[in-house]
Amino acid sequence: MCGIFSVTGSHKKAGNKVLSGLKKLEYRGYDSWGIAVQTAKGVVVQKDTGKISEVHLDLPEGSKAIGHTRWATHGGVTKANSHPHRVGKVTLVHNGIFENYAEEKARLVDHNFQSDTDTEVIAVLLSQAIEEGLDIKSAIRFVTQKIQGRFSILVMIDDQPGIWAARKGSPLIVGRGENETFIASDIPAFLEQTNKVNYLDDDELVFVDQGTANFFDLNTGKAITKREITVSWKVEESKKGNYAHFMIKEIFDQKETIAKAINHDNQAIADFVKALKSSNGVYMVACGTANKACMVAEYFFAQISGRKVNVVSASEMPYFEQFVNDRTALVAVSQSGETADVLEILERGKKSGAKILAMTNVESSSIARLADVHLPIQAGPEKAVASTKATTAQIALLLLCAYADSSTVNDFEKCLNRGRNILRSTAGNINDLLNPRYESYVKAVAEKIVQHDNLFIIGRGALYPIALEAAIKIQEVSYIHAQGFPAGEIKHGPIALIEAGTPCLVLGNDTEIIANATELKSRGAMIIGIADKDHELFDEWLKAPNCEEGQAIATLIPVQILSYHLAILRGLNPDMPRNLAKSVTVK
Ligand code: AGP
Ligand code: GLU
Repeated sequence: MCGIFSVTGSHKKAGNKVLSGLKKLEYRGYDSWGIAVQTAKGVVVQKDTGKISEVHLDLPEGSKAIGHTRWATHGGVTKANSHPHRVGKVTLVHNGIFENYAEEKARLVDHNFQSDTDTEVIAVLLSQAIEEGLDIKSAIRFVTQKIQGRFSILVMIDDQPGIWAARKGSPLIVGRGENETFIASDIPAFLEQTNKVNYLDDDELVFVDQGTANFFDLNTGKAITKREITVSWKVEESKKGNYAHFMIKEIFDQKETIAKAINHDNQAIADFVKALKSSNGVYMVACGTANKACMVAEYFFAQISGRKVNVVSASEMPYFEQFVNDRTALVAVSQSGETADVLEILERGKKSGAKILAMTNVESSSIARLADVHLPIQAGPEKAVASTKATTAQIALLLLCAYADSSTVNDFEKCLNRGRNILRSTAGNINDLLNPRYESYVKAVAEKIVQHDNLFIIGRGALYPIALEAAIKIQEVSYIHAQGFPAGEIKHGPIALIEAGTPCLVLGNDTEIIANATELKSRGAMIIGIADKDHELFDEWLKAPNCEEGQAIATLIPVQILSYHLAILRGLNPDMPRNLAKSVTVK
């Protein structure tokens, strides 16, 4: 949640640079924004509710500035609750949650709080620690030790050089420019200036000033050295290009991303599968859409390699943790690699001796760095809140893993190649979906259902989790109430919700699902079939070419395009759905 960003340089443009960098982090939170610039006459703060992309300001000159784009967790979406928070000489922005803030706040009876945030409590504690005589580094160490929860902070102190930052659970990356240094929650904030970075790990502290960065252990205060890494992301990959929104650009990117999955490194897949084979019990943990990709994989592993994997929403996994031990393989799937519910399970699993396998799209993410074996999803930057290309790339990669897992002693390559061939033909087939003609066809279907408030989706087998994923996609961008069901379950209750004209997406056209669709149609449902061939029962038909196990991917793409157009027709911005953020770093 939330994007934080700072600039310190030998120029005077830090404020405007923070403003433009924050716009690249808007996907992380868009409730409110705020920037503090250290000017010759003191610190100037500008903040307000609303989206940073709509802010056009010329900020005063200054050589250092910090900024924030908020996804509110504590306190409503108001100007007073926007960051930065200023207390005494402290100016602070915060990503994450101060879980025990209420206890600390209760002790601060003499302070006149200006906001309802947990963040302001950190600023007060820090200001008091400095007033009581601690140097800045010691004060930050002292205060961060009191904070329970995952967070990162950026701090400027009046009349003191540089900017300080600390990380305990939420991402922070230092960008090393020419006589200027950046600190951000994510690389796109400064990618136009530099691709040389240092990743901060948990329990680390950094002091930056103009072109320098000094790193410390947050617990001991001792200096540490950090490796400088050159990232391979390209500026263009993080841009919309000619597309109206990131969501539709990323849907069309799937032309390349599925093909890319085919070329995935054999060794990484072999390591992944070796860990599965040597385990005694596999748990796949993920949230939201990534969890649905895992559910698809549950069918792949069962049918392709005969392995039973347990798929559990990361937030529900605590109720099963007694089964995690040193023979368990914990498989995490995450686009961002920062999802707090997943991270917590992995951290505890690691302590229990479990093997940690991870698939993340952000390769430098916390989950990736925690893993014993990491398979990068390689879908390129995904900016729209609604996951599209990362999801299908996850499904593709999991399909390859299931095929590799079906190998015995000498036929690893042969088995893997079976998976690759399926993906090859899937990649070819989906090209027929990713063109303006097909898009306009889907849009025409969206026009027919956009006025409805309820929509149901049914699927069987690996298309059942795709029905669940279709529901997430439609809900989050169009705000239409959408629900997915296993097709056979509909007659056990949900069919009571069907009225004349209720739109129902039917994923597939085999005999079983057509029987279930007939039951819906008899109650007046409007049937939209998503299948390789039309059927007389379908009122509308969206083609999803036959791709064998790649069908999960081929069926999801029309749903993604449909969701996008439902949002557009309802006048919504699909890239920034209300109440959501791209990276959910709070529990
Ligand atoms: C996807 O469209 C959703 N925005 C959301 O469910 C997401 O998949 C979930 O928060 C998990 O994120 P992750 O893949 O970054 O872990
Ligand atoms: N907990 C803080 C707040 O609600 C920070 C939230 C964030 O990460 O954006 O203001």
